[in-house]
Amino acid sequence: MSFIHDVILNEEDICNLSREKKILNHGIENGKKLVVYGRRNSGKTSLLKNVIIPKFEKKNKSAFVIFCDFMEVKDIDSIALRLRVSFEKAFMKAFPKETFVKQIKNFLVGLRPQITVDPLTGETSLSITAEKAGQEVSLESIFEILGKKIATKMNVLIVLDEFQDISFVPEAQGLFRDALQKMGKIPVVIMGSKKHLLAKMFAVPDAPFADFGVDIEFNDIPYEEYHAYCQERLSKKGIKLSLENSTIWQNLMCRNAEAMNILGAYILENFSNKNINELDLRKSIESIISERGSRYEEYIGHLLTSEQEVLIAIAKYGPVLEPSSKEFIKNLKSAHATILKAVRNLENHSYIEKTMQGYQLVNPMLKYYLLKNR
Ligand SMILES: Nc1ncnc2c1ncn2[C@@H]1O[C@H](COP(=O)(O)OP(=O)(O)OP(=O)(O)O)[C@@H](O)[C@H]1O
Ligand SMILES: [Mg+2]
Repeated sequence: MSFIHDVILNEEDICNLSREKKILNHGIENGKKLVVYGRRNSGKTSLLKNVIIPKFEKKNKSAFVIFCDFMEVKDIDSIALRLRVSFEKAFMKAFPKETFVKQIKNFLVGLRPQITVDPLTGETSLSITAEKAGQEVSLESIFEILGKKIATKMNVLIVLDEFQDISFVPEAQGLFRDALQKMGKIPVVIMGSKKHLLAKMFAVPDAPFADFGVDIEFNDIPYEEYHAYCQERLSKKGIKLSLENSTIWQNLMCRNAEAMNILGAYILENFSNKNINELDLRKSIESIISERGSRYEEYIGHLLTSEQEVLIAIAKYGPVLEPSSKEFIKNLKSAHATILKAVRNLENHSYIEKTMQGYQLVNPMLKYYLLKNR
């Protein structure tokens, strides 16, 4: 057992989330539409991919699970492409190779399916194409096949990750609304990490998905639970940690589970037979940010100067309750409107997030890096 980061977690490394697991399993069993909210790195993708979906597949002999991630989609074609690829993968997973050709004939008429065999590995793969050459298979036709053909014979589950990013593509919301409305009793899980965008799609009265589904919010891991998780992992090297210091650990990492795990991995690697105190925690963070420095430079290198300025100011003065307040703006050179635009862009691309305490950096390690180097 260790502290895992940068990848999705197996069930035994997921801390907390048993309530969320129960609600999701129950909702899926009952053909519900579920909307999962949760800040970055709260374990949404891990729970779905490595716990909920495998359970669904085990329970239903004829499971057909489509998992599609819409992170940073740019236009309707890129949305359709992601859906098509997810559909092809789902199809290959759902049917054994022996029955493949037959199932393709059963289910995919009209989608011009092609099977190719990889010359190196011998693995077969499926690709479907639109009627008109050069065009993407439409979103509507994929949902139609799912709803009208596949769901009549199979237990379908649809999981759409980082769904809020389709809101940057004007025509996408209407298309999805129509398609999802036709899914009847097929369970659908919609997930997102940018709450301000998801709320605009689901939680205001005239929003496109205003009456859609049941909300499930992934909250911060309770301090005691993560403390127990740490103790379990640290004890194998004789490292001790009090609840008080564990709370400091979690607060220093702004309760971001991935950052907490990065710190854990560092401590597990660099200490043994010791009581960890606050100074150890702070020194470890300092080493981590100096090791990962070039990564953070690259990360902010994509931003406009005004966005960098705002990000650095939020790192310094945050959490910031009101970015348009005089008190915050007086720290900056950019004009008022430019600042607000920068805040919006930073939030849309998950550099910052709004919490109860105000706007803060999503990545606490980046915050410490900026505090030290800017
Ligand atoms: N419940 C948890 N217990 C332990 N670690 C977690 C938990 N949730 C998230 N993490 C940490 O965050 C990382 C990312 O997890 P995951 O991708 O499942 O989260 P997510 O909510 O889907 O994030 P994102 O919003 O970025 O898509 C993991 O590698 C792990 O380090
Ligand atoms: Mg995710």
